[in-house]
Amino acid sequence: MCGIVAYTGKKDNIKEILIEGLKKLEYRGYDSAGIAVCTDTQIKVSKKKGFIKDLEKELSQENFRSTTGIGHTRWATHGEPSDINSHPHTDCTEKFAVVHNGIIENYKELREELESRGHVFKSKTDTEVIVHLIEENFDGDLLNAVLKSVKKLKGSFAIAVVSAYEPETVVGARQDSPLIAGLGEGENFLASDIPAVLKHTRKILVLEDGEAIKITPGSAEVYDFDGRLRHKEVLQVTWDAEAAEKSGYEDFMLKEIFEQPDTIRNTLRGRIKQDGFIDLSSEIKIGKNILKKLERIIIVACGTSYYAGLVGKNAIELFAQIPVEVEISSEFRYRPILAEGNVLVIAITQSGETADTLVSMRMAKKVGFPVLAIPNVVGSTAAREADGVLYTHAGPEIGVAATKTMTAQMVALYLFALYLAQLRNRIGSEREKKFIDELKRLPELVEMILSRKEHIKALAEKYAGFDNFLFLGRTHGLPAAYEGALKLKEITYIHAEGYPAGEMKHGPIALIDENFPSVFIATAGEVYEKIISNIEEIKARKGKVIAVATDGDTRIKELVDDVIYVPWTFEVYTPLVTVVPLQLFTYYIGKIRNLNVDQPRNLAKSVTVE
Ligand code: F6R
Repeated sequence: MCGIVAYTGKKDNIKEILIEGLKKLEYRGYDSAGIAVCTDTQIKVSKKKGFIKDLEKELSQENFRSTTGIGHTRWATHGEPSDINSHPHTDCTEKFAVVHNGIIENYKELREELESRGHVFKSKTDTEVIVHLIEENFDGDLLNAVLKSVKKLKGSFAIAVVSAYEPETVVGARQDSPLIAGLGEGENFLASDIPAVLKHTRKILVLEDGEAIKITPGSAEVYDFDGRLRHKEVLQVTWDAEAAEKSGYEDFMLKEIFEQPDTIRNTLRGRIKQDGFIDLSSEIKIGKNILKKLERIIIVACGTSYYAGLVGKNAIELFAQIPVEVEISSEFRYRPILAEGNVLVIAITQSGETADTLVSMRMAKKVGFPVLAIPNVVGSTAAREADGVLYTHAGPEIGVAATKTMTAQMVALYLFALYLAQLRNRIGSEREKKFIDELKRLPELVEMILSRKEHIKALAEKYAGFDNFLFLGRTHGLPAAYEGALKLKEITYIHAEGYPAGEMKHGPIALIDENFPSVFIATAGEVYEKIISNIEEIKARKGKVIAVATDGDTRIKELVDDVIYVPWTFEVYTPLVTVVPLQLFTYYIGKIRNLNVDQPRNLAKSVTVE
């Protein structure tokens, strides 16, 4: 939920290096920020409530004489956002400083113990116990002090620690929160995520749970928590720093919406073989025999990924004819698992770090169900813990709201559903080919929709002043309606609900008047006539209606106030072509309302706490 970064090397612009790194991690939290640098004999800390740019402004005149330091961008969990609760935190002697991402569950007990031994705490955070423990355990070696201290911690952490006693060393450790090292020439880095170091290096070490690392300008050594040296493979990152930047777009959100034709191509890449059929066996790793015998699938996910899960359910049930339940991870984890039958659990999580989804995966594994993860972040916890992984390959998503990762998740699920259908002989090759050919056309269809952005922008201008919206759909249209509503509320703070259109007359239709517009997913398909009737019901109550409809549908134009046309595709693929214009509609309303669309209030990109 926070971002950490660390540097040790020969460069003398430590402030700029740390702040630049933090800016790449701002998506992980942005309620306060801080840095600590090692000078010859002391640690100098600067930290502040607010955005990283506020800290940068405050430090504009500072010229630190240091080549080693740590930085942090925070999303508060324990202790409200404030200057004092911002990281880095220091010990009583001010000789050690720590930055931390995660939650120390036993911090209350540890704090009481430390206070009883005379330690004085400055903040209300769980993190501060770590640095006092390190102070106590230090006997001349920072790495040893960190190793001894982390053994006392319960909960999740990725930490980076500096000490005035070893001014060219940073020690990091991870347990249930991500941490990577970037390896440079005469310099090394630690960070929560790869974009923070990409400008400097593409050589990455991904730390596992239970590992610590000591970096100096000339070395990077990984240890287990018992101090045994570990050999790690260096990962060569292929995407460049550009990919993590805005590339000329005004906002990451807009850039990421427009990247979707490419990201969909990337999700498809290499998965449709020369013979035109899908083969995922080398990636999924879960045996074909297991997949063939499946009786049930449970999908676990949160938020937008959950809505992608609903799309997956429709596709898997249609193609592979296996019953699918889609569960919100935060609910699933607190209910008993019915451990019966041949069940596959699919965890959909773009970050691969969502706490509730990770716990759900672990519960499933415990009862012996194989787990397939669909993450975007390579090397993420979900990817490492699952039995099989189907990456979405959408590239880094910096905007807090999921856009390109959701369409990539849908494509991964379509591929999986068709693959499963083929393995289980539930789809004839001719029919399968038709659906695979259409899958390959999706990037073009999304390009067509994006080329209509001016019309969507004009609609956003017309509707930006309303305070409430309903998003309505049926069957394949329903997940898109849910997602349209979620996007609108999180980006624009307008109240919006996604609802099954057929349920309106069981209550919600009472809300409708001329000030309560409805957005209908009304594309061609089996329930089209039913949707038309639902639109009539709303119009009869003077409700304004925007319909997302299929190109060539002139009839609907007569009925509704406005239409967003999308190209025809098979009904099962319509969620993908209908969410894209809804993302744009939301984006433009957010801009008209002068909001920070990349970093909506109260939200963080990856929810690594319960
Ligand atoms: C909404 C959004 C969230 C995430 C949810 C799950 O735009 O981004 O609802 O979808 O927090 O995140 P992941 O997919 O990382 O598990």
